Amino acid sequence: MEWGMRNRVSKIIRPNDSRCLMLAVDHGYFLGPTEKLESPSSTIGPLAKYVDSIMLTRGILRTCVNPTIDTPIVLRVSGGSTIIGEDLSKESITTCIEEAIRLNVSCLALSIFVGSKYEHQSLSNLAKLVDEGEKYGIPVLAVTAVGKDMIRDSRYLGLACRVAAELGAHIVKTYYCDNFSSVVAGCPVPLIIAGGKKTTENEALQLAANAIKDGAVGVDMGRNIWQSEYPVPMAKAVKSIVHSNYSSNEAYKGFRDEITSSEIKA
Ligand code: 5RP
Repeated sequence: MEWGMRNRVSKIIRPNDSRCLMLAVDHGYFLGPTEKLESPSSTIGPLAKYVDSIMLTRGILRTCVNPTIDTPIVLRVSGGSTIIGEDLSKESITTCIEEAIRLNVSCLALSIFVGSKYEHQSLSNLAKLVDEGEKYGIPVLAVTAVGKDMIRDSRYLGLACRVAAELGAHIVKTYYCDNFSSVVAGCPVPLIIAGGKKTTENEALQLAANAIKDGAVGVDMGRNIWQSEYPVPMAKAVKSIVHSNYSSNEAYKGFRDEITSSEIKA
């Protein structure tokens, strides 16, 4: 791996512990103004310093993020379908590599839809993006998206993650599942997990801790952080699992303590 590529990967997967905490705020690219992400700058601003990187589209980066920010950017570059459209799996590459370079991003992200109607299109998008990324030293994060009817088991996710790695993805994002360690074992590049739909803070922290225990290098969490009533304490709690190997109980206690101390100060 060349210097530029290694340098950018190290912005996403921190070299001191090989772990990664990414804040996902890209949901609007197919969902529109998702709850608590209606005003992206208000959501992102207070959280940026507690995460290693932020995943979002160019439109939100340009309009809602202060360009003097230190937090590395993971740019979502696939899209073109919405929740009310024909088929969510029908995505194209929506941002060219020159724009990604102008925006000084550290990583590119794109969804693949294994087993869907547009499987081939999404996989060839990934292969093309990896070729572009390799030319300029920009890593590619493949997101294994699942349709409503897909079963998120280790057989399916293992296949999707392996295919993403075979096509050259540098990092893969997937879902946590039973027997997740077999998904990790079959994927030769680092795996991170998505947080998924909003659950209780305790459940989300358990998910993160289980994923790390089973071999994920980190999490790309969105709704379970910014849809929490206490987003900053939640980001700090997830960080304590990812970077300080806290158990979910320890992290949850930190979350509760943080809320209590901020209420005392207020
Ligand atoms: C959407 C995405 C999201 O970034 C991903 O799902 C993570 O967010 P959340 O933790 O809210 O699930 O890739 O396609």
